[in-house]
Amino acid sequence: MAINLRGKSFLKLLDFSSQEIRYIIDLSKQFKKLKLTGTPHRYLDGKNIVLLFEKTSTRTRCSFEVAGRDLGMGVTYLDPGSSQMGKKESIADTARVLGRLYDGIEYRGFSQKIVEEMARFAGVPVWNGLTDEFHPTQMIADLLTIEEKLGCLKGLNFTYFGDARNNMGNSLMVACAKMGLNFTACAPKELFPDEKLVEICKKIAAENNSSITLTDDVKTSAKNADVIYTDIWLSMGEPDDMWEKRIKLLKPFQVNKNIMNLASNNAIFMHCLPSFHDTKTTIGKDISQKFNLNEMEVSDEVFESKQSVVFDEAENRMHTIKAIMYATLM
Ligand code: CP
Ligand code: NVA
Repeated sequence: MAINLRGKSFLKLLDFSSQEIRYIIDLSKQFKKLKLTGTPHRYLDGKNIVLLFEKTSTRTRCSFEVAGRDLGMGVTYLDPGSSQMGKKESIADTARVLGRLYDGIEYRGFSQKIVEEMARFAGVPVWNGLTDEFHPTQMIADLLTIEEKLGCLKGLNFTYFGDARNNMGNSLMVACAKMGLNFTACAPKELFPDEKLVEICKKIAAENNSSITLTDDVKTSAKNADVIYTDIWLSMGEPDDMWEKRIKLLKPFQVNKNIMNLASNNAIFMHCLPSFHDTKTTIGKDISQKFNLNEMEVSDEVFESKQSVVFDEAENRMHTIKAIMYATLM
């Protein structure tokens, strides 16, 4: 059946079939080729999009901006302090206004409910640029990167170390289930993902001949993994006074050389970024002074190793966001 995503919002991968996800990945490859060969692709000339950010961003914002411009669109960026939304104007009213002015809306914020509500009222596609629950545009970039590096998706062993109930843990579990990768979340039990979401993902995984495993056994999780993935231990919006507790909980789950040595020979290391792998950031320095810890979720050695594909992954954010916008706006 022909795939048609025109007019559809991109809020979480659960809303898309495996075939639709495959279509977006393949489209991303085509856009990457056009970009790398310098071939103009202003296919959405004359359209306009707005990027609404209630949290900070480097990759997501810049990817939407560059992708939007490459496609010929006008781009407006609204930072956390500069719109009326929430303070003087409801989500529904904001969505209805922006939907009259723009052809598409990107939203990064706190609850998934807000982005879902925006999509109900906007009348134009809304793209989720990260909420506390899901980070779906990151997933297409991650799937593309895995396929580029390892040649396939189906049947690969994917292990995620760290906070398995944050936006990345949730999204990766869904993405793996949809595309037939065996997903293992290796985390302390209190950071396991929501049981309902796990049940949904187990059903999807079964349909795609793959599995979902939750465990706190680091060694077994690393063994024979094709992809090792981690994320920061404290996400945007979580209070700073939780660092101490999180560090204690997650220190045994740090991705380091011992873990990579257990993984398969051609295993890759992935991270959505930003990452605390050294003390060259203000938070990194602060943590180092307070807790005597110079690297957190991943050791600097692994981050800088040949197995690390984090910057290819970051580049792919732009090509894949372009495909998502094109598929839903064309
Ligand atoms: N990975 C990611 O979403 O990065 P930013 O927070 O910089 O957008
Ligand atoms: N879990 C992280 C992901 C950042 C891309 C956060 O929400 O801060």
